[in-house]
Amino acid sequence: MGDPQRFWDRYAKGYAKRPIADEAAYQTKLKLTQEHLKPDMEVLEFGCGTGTITLHHAPFVKHIRAIDISKNMIEISKTKARDANVTNVAFEQLKIDDLKENDSTYDVVMGHSILHLLDDKEKAINKVHRLLKPGGLFISTTTCLGGKLWALRAILPIGHFFGLLPMVKFFTKEELETALKDNGFQIDHIWQSGKPKGIFIIARKTQ
Ligand SMILES: C[S@@+](CC[C@H](N)C(=O)[O-])C[C@H]1O[C@@H](n2cnc3c(N)ncnc32)[C@H](O)[C@@H]1O
Repeated sequence: MGDPQRFWDRYAKGYAKRPIADEAAYQTKLKLTQEHLKPDMEVLEFGCGTGTITLHHAPFVKHIRAIDISKNMIEISKTKARDANVTNVAFEQLKIDDLKENDSTYDVVMGHSILHLLDDKEKAINKVHRLLKPGGLFISTTTCLGGKLWALRAILPIGHFFGLLPMVKFFTKEELETALKDNGFQIDHIWQSGKPKGIFIIARKTQ
């Protein structure tokens, strides 16, 4: 085990059927996001999973390019978009590292429940910054497991070894904020809620 694509491919059908853990928190995050969306916006979403969040936001923007490392997740997303007659979304199997686009392409980049799964969150944040237009928004939800969660730190690699859990990086909310600020973002909104606890951040490209 260790290949994230394989892990998420195996997990995709189950993920699609999983109920939302905290409906109230989910709705709050949709609302906070939609307050910032405009009909002329070009949006990128990475780690889109089965496209649930993508499809919620699609009616509020011009276009969303939504990528995910998992072929099976993307297949489910495409089916959901077809069934819902959503035509302004392009789902694509692609790693964030392999995304090659011009600087300043997007008004908004979204990455939900993904930064803690990447080997190098700083590299991803730096790439998001480059892809955003000046003043563009990076809207993310991240599970911040830093701190004294020693039992969890011990269990996660074992679960990962047996293919039961994804590999998760441990960092605190403060470390995430620092990473964003160090890469040219200003934090416009930060909110913690939900089960499992996620840190929802709206960050603006300032430099
Ligand atoms: C926890 S799921 C979150 C899915 C969705 N954003 C949501 O909030 O429901 C994480 C997703 O990130 C994808 N992923 C993991 N590593 C990735 C990478 N390097 N590039 C793009 N997607 C990745 C996985 O395939 C999975 O679909």
